[in-house]
Amino acid sequence: MTESDWTRLKAAAKEAATHAYAPYSRFPVGAAAMAEDGTVFAACNVENASYGLTVCAERAALFAMVASGRKVVRALALFTPTPGPVSPCGACRQVLAEFIPPGAACPVLLSCDGGADVLTEAAELLPHQFRLDSRQ
Ligand code: THU
Repeated sequence: MTESDWTRLKAAAKEAATHAYAPYSRFPVGAAAMAEDGTVFAACNVENASYGLTVCAERAALFAMVASGRKVVRALALFTPTPGPVSPCGACRQVLAEFIPPGAACPVLLSCDGGADVLTEAAELLPHQFRLDSRQ
C-alpha cells in the first residue's frame, strides 16, 4: 500500500459514511475495501426497522467487491465521525478474513474525526479465525 493508496481508501470510507442509513443508532460508519488490483469498493451501514437486518459498512463494502468478481482484499479502511477510532465488529472481522488468502497481510486503517488513525492488521483483529477447512 502506497501513501496515495491510503489517501484514496480513507477518503472513500469517509465519503461513504455520509451515505449511512442509521436512523436507529445514529451511528454512521463508512468502509472502503481495496481489492488486489487496486479497485476501491466503498459502502456504509444500512439499518432496518427490524434491527437484526442491519448490515455493517465493512460487510457491505466487501460484498460489493465480491459482487464485482474480485475475491481478494488488499486493505480495508473504516471511518466514523467520532472522537476516537472505532474497531470492526466480530462478524465483520470473520467476513474480512474470508477474503484474505492464507498467510497474506491485510492492513486495516481505523480513522475518525477526532483522534489519530490506528493502523492494524486483519490477523491481529481476528486471531484463530474459523476456517471450514479445519474439518477432520
Ligand atoms: N456498524 C458498522 O457498520 N460496522 C461495525 O463494525 C460495527 C457497527 C454499524 C451497525 C449499526 O448500523 C451501527 O454501526 C451501530 O451498531
